Order: sequence, then structure tokens, then C-alpha cells
Amino acid sequence: MSGRDALVELTRLVREARRPVVLTGAGVSAESGVPTFRGPDGLWKRHRPEDLATPEAFARDPALVWEWYNWRRQRIAPARPNPAHRWIAAYERANPEFLLITQNVDGLHRLAGSRRLVEVHGDLWMVRCTCCGREDEDRRVPLPVPPRCPECNGMLRPGVVWFGEPLPAEALSRSAEAVRKADLLLVVGTSAVVQPVASFPLLARGAVVVEINPAATPLTPFVDLSIRSAAGALLQRIPLPGSPPAGTKALSPSRPGGAP
Ligand code: OAD
Repeated sequence: MSGRDALVELTRLVREARRPVVLTGAGVSAESGVPTFRGPDGLWKRHRPEDLATPEAFARDPALVWEWYNWRRQRIAPARPNPAHRWIAAYERANPEFLLITQNVDGLHRLAGSRRLVEVHGDLWMVRCTCCGREDEDRRVPLPVPPRCPECNGMLRPGVVWFGEPLPAEALSRSAEAVRKADLLLVVGTSAVVQPVASFPLLARGAVVVEINPAATPLTPFVDLSIRSAAGALLQRIPLPGSPPAGTKALSPSRPGGAP
């Protein structure tokens, strides 16, 4: 299928979907300047996940793990949503059955206005006490190392899911149910190698599965439509249900009387 045909097909699928689900990974934030995990400039090139993002690593050296999360907070704090985040938030507003599932912990989907979302790997801006379990949003950059609980002085940990930890049960069941019922699944900017999320698309029963990613992934052979493109550059060209077709102009709301 040519690039133009793929755009036309995706536009039709987006317009006709009744129960769309969007599944995103780090690639959706790449155009906001947030480094991905894998790939040429990926975070895991410089750090081994088992050194930093596991409960064992935190037990061994909490200061090292917190230094890494402080570095990531510093990178992410100035980042702003890009056209992909904004398009996904607008799609939600246009469709009452929409659900966004994201592996990202950067908070950019929320900042773009997404509200019906499941953050399956947690939220970098949340902290949780390892003693009393208290959870708080904490946007300080950097945090003192290691940060302490205001309630019990226990050590805080990042509010994210680490390798070897289960996904929160509710996030898992809500995501799996939505994918099973979906009629369109857009998989955007994930390398599809980290389980269990990498297997979510395989739960789809009736959905047309579309992958948007500049590179091939293990999922590519199984999708109905693979579009090799950066997410923001592509999605901003896809008109949403209820928006005027590309090339036409909306009525100016400031025009007296509101009518032509
Ligand atoms: P990865 O870094 O593994 O993959 C990022 C994907 O985004 C790659 O397939 C890139 O080709 C693609 N990509 C790059 N730029 C893009 C762009 N502009 N538009 C669209 N796609 C683009 O990130 P994830 O798949 O999200 O988990 O990684 C999954 C999990 O591994 C993360 O949630 C994290 C990590 O370890 C935890 O921290 C638990």
C-alpha cells in the first residue's frame, strides 16, 4: 500500500471505529525530545535495566536508582506534548468509547488532555513510601536522594512498575477488556518487546490492528496495517470524527451571527 493509500485507509478506520483503543510506548514522546529506551539513543544503551529498574537494584543501591530517576525527571520536566499526544487526546474527546493504554511514565498524555487512560507502568511523578505505602504526586526536580516519606520518614520509591514486578491488577484487567472489545487498535511507538503489554494486541478479537512506528517490531508481521512513520508527523494529518475534512476551513466562531 502506498503512503497515500495508508493515510486514506487510516482516516477511514479512525472515522468508522466505535470502540477505538490506542496503545502507546516511548516512541510517542520522541518528538517531544524524551529519549526512548531502545534504539540508537535509547536509555538502555547506557544503563542496564537490571542495574536500575528492578526491586533488587533498589534494595542494593537506592541512591543510584534515585540518581537515575532524577536524571530522567530533569530530561522530562521541560518536555511538552507533541502533535501525537494532542491528536490522541482529541480522538478521546470525539469518541465516548475510546481508551488509551500507555506504557509511558512521562505524564505527557495527561498534559495533552487525555483523561480516559491507563498508565500500565505507573507515573514518574508519583512517589510511594516503602514503609507505610503512602502515595503522593511529587514534582520536585531533583528530589533529595533518597527522598523520605513526610508521614513516617520511610524511604520513598518511584511510582513506576519495575522489571520483575506485576502490573497493577486493575490496569491489566481494564486494558485487556478494552482490547478484547475494540474494533480498532492503534499501536503507536512501542518496540513491542516488554511483556505483558507486548502481547496486548494478540488479545484483540474483532479489531483492525494498525502499527505506527518508523521501525519494524516483532508485532509488525501480525498487524493489519503497518505505517512506517514518526507518530506526530503522521497523526496530525489524520482528520478526526467531527472535524472538517483536510483542506476545508472551519467557520470562524468570531463571525457576527455565526452564520455564513
Ligand atoms: P522502546 O524504547 O523499547 O521503543 C520505542 C519505539 O518507538 C521503537 O520501536 C522506535 O522505533 C519507536 N519510535 C521512535 N521514534 C518514534 C516516533 N517519532 N514515532 C513513533 N515511534 C517511534 O519503548 P517501549 O516500547 O515503550 O518499561 O518500551 C517498553 C517498556 O520498556 C517501557 O515502558 C519501559 C521500558 O523498560 C518500564 O520501565 C517498566
